[in-house]
Amino acid sequence: MIVKNPKFEISAVSEKQYPKSDLPEIVLVGKSNVGKSSFVNTMINRKNLARTSNTPGKTRQINFYNIDDKFYFVDLPGYGYSKMSKKEQIISGKFIEDYLSKRNNISLIILVLDIRHKPTEDDFLMYEYILKTNLPFVVVTNKADKIAVTKVDDAVSVIKEYLGISYSPIYPFSAERKIYLEDIWKEIEKYI
Ligand code: GTP
Ligand code: MG
Repeated sequence: MIVKNPKFEISAVSEKQYPKSDLPEIVLVGKSNVGKSSFVNTMINRKNLARTSNTPGKTRQINFYNIDDKFYFVDLPGYGYSKMSKKEQIISGKFIEDYLSKRNNISLIILVLDIRHKPTEDDFLMYEYILKTNLPFVVVTNKADKIAVTKVDDAVSVIKEYLGISYSPIYPFSAERKIYLEDIWKEIEKYI
């Protein structure tokens, strides 16, 4: 898909700040620093519309990006950043849970994992939570540029096996190298 006019719309901390819109929402979830905000930038071909950082815990609120008035990318705060204070972790967790449990127009959840690592305990909790929502989801294993091209398929299979995914798609990705976009766009296009 060619994105023409992506716009940052709002950073929300509560339900009443979510856009008054029933456009479909494609939501990014995953642990801190895994590349959710980078994913958004790469998919829409913008360098820094979504703010990214080397330091985990960059995205602290729920950021809505209006994509050509067709759908929203919703960039959630990451979980599992141990250097965040307990209070901040609870607040981020509440933002995530409120959004996922209250928002009616979520059309697809994208769970972002790191292709190099087996899913963490928090990833499993999130995965189980997603299953319980019964919403469509795909898994994206990011940072594929950090392993040899010849190892990519195996790494994806290993993560797939860990999660025990049988029916939902799982794709490699590299926000950094901007590769493997097409399959994920095809998936997103089914839901917008
Ligand atoms: P939080 O907002 O803290 O939840 O993090 P996030 O998941 O939004 O991660 P973010 O996009 O800010 O990226 C974190 C760091 O990983 C940044 O330094 C990115 O440049 C880097 N990064 C993201 N994607 C990739 C990738 O595909 N490959 C490599 N090598 N680095 C990446
Ligand atoms: Mg972020």
